[in-house]
Amino acid sequence: GPTTPLSISVIGCGYLGTVHAVAMAALGHDVVGIDVSDERIALLASGEAPFFEPGLPERLTAGLASGRLRFSTDIAVAATADLHFVCVGTPQSEGSDAADLRALFSATEVLIPHLRPGSVVAGKSTVPVGTAARLSGLVEGAGATLVWNPEFLREGRAIADSLSPDRIVVGVSAVEESGPSASAGSSGALNMLRRAYATMLELGTPLVVTDLPTAELVKGAANAYLATRISFMNAMADVAERAGADVVGLAEALGHDERIGPHYLRAGIGFGGGCLPKDIRAFAARATELGAAAPAALLAQVDEINLGQRARIVEAVAEHFGGSVVGRRVTVLGAAFKPESDDIRDSPAIDIARALHRLGSIVTLTDPAALPNVAGRYPELSLEASLDHALRDAECLVLATEWAEYRLLDPVRAGALVAGRTVFDGRNCLDREAWSAAGWKYRGIGRR
Ligand code: UGA
Repeated sequence: GPTTPLSISVIGCGYLGTVHAVAMAALGHDVVGIDVSDERIALLASGEAPFFEPGLPERLTAGLASGRLRFSTDIAVAATADLHFVCVGTPQSEGSDAADLRALFSATEVLIPHLRPGSVVAGKSTVPVGTAARLSGLVEGAGATLVWNPEFLREGRAIADSLSPDRIVVGVSAVEESGPSASAGSSGALNMLRRAYATMLELGTPLVVTDLPTAELVKGAANAYLATRISFMNAMADVAERAGADVVGLAEALGHDERIGPHYLRAGIGFGGGCLPKDIRAFAARATELGAAAPAALLAQVDEINLGQRARIVEAVAEHFGGSVVGRRVTVLGAAFKPESDDIRDSPAIDIARALHRLGSIVTLTDPAALPNVAGRYPELSLEASLDHALRDAECLVLATEWAEYRLLDPVRAGALVAGRTVFDGRNCLDREAWSAAGWKYRGIGRR
């Protein structure tokens, strides 16, 4: 742990805040997690992880047992903290693409009266560039300093990403703009962040110190780039399919180019989740506000290609059945937007299952973790927890989430259960040869 533990508050115990609070306690700091939801706080305080995340339950229990991790709905408890991480959600606004910043501003406003002079507020939420400048006046009025410290954790790998990140980014207010006293505040604040992350910095994690708008932009740009990379590969899959080429081989060959690299090149039914889709829309909306038409158009295209992937696989299934899926039994493997997660927010799997159901197909949906979340939200979908039962009598399979149990499914055993041996591999993750050899008609994305 750090030589001198800090007293830390984490405001907002959603996905990001919960994981960050647990990670900060694991690093040896004294942490209190704050949230407006009684239910959420009661759950966390009792040691129960409110969502599926590998490694979280163990870390949460260990933090509570150590006495270094507490949870409260009372913002006044944050008053003794040296460092406040603001981790509230910034969802897509209803009726527009812009980010909804109401929770962020209200959380900051309730925190203000409890800020000690010399304390630091570190914004972690994903925000449109320019938001930190608006918050900074509020925070500095209380004698505290605002920094921006975006978070890059991935669901399913959140603990590992938090404890060993690729980089730490800290934005501070510019010296020129704020005068000598504020710049002293900035260097003190930067030192506070260095202490918070001392363990990682000692291990050589790169620290990028920059100004507030650049730090905000790093997060938006990183997600915009990742989304663009996926839509780019899906665009290549379209060309490959028409040309009789194979996008999996293409991605492998591209990945050997050091300038491109091998990660995040998987074509398929596209990206979903609580971040990438809403973040590119918010990014485009903000770019438009700033008068930057081309960046907005680029990301609109990325979004369109991505959503098109969902529509295309549904069309392909219909085509397979001669144009209509009415009365056809289709089993969708996976509901979560990605494996090792129970998150179904903007999940391509759910969209595809619902579209098939709307077209008259008898859809069975299975998933090892996410079904409880589907049951509450989409009662029209028929759910089956047992994989074998889900396979039984299916006329066609659509693999939508690449859980290990689907990737490693034995095509011979599966072939004995189903009524029709056709598989649409929406994640290009099955062994095409093995499935074909077992008598299946295999259809990938961007593959022959
Ligand atoms: C994403 C970013 O990867 C994180 O760095 C960021 O911190 C996070 O959003 C956030 O803003 O909070 P996450 O949404 O958890 O993380 O999931 P990813 O692993 O990035 O996957 C997003 C989607 O892209 C999934 O639906 C996945 O199936 C899809 N994907 C990913 C592809 O279709 N192809 C790929 O090659 C990679």
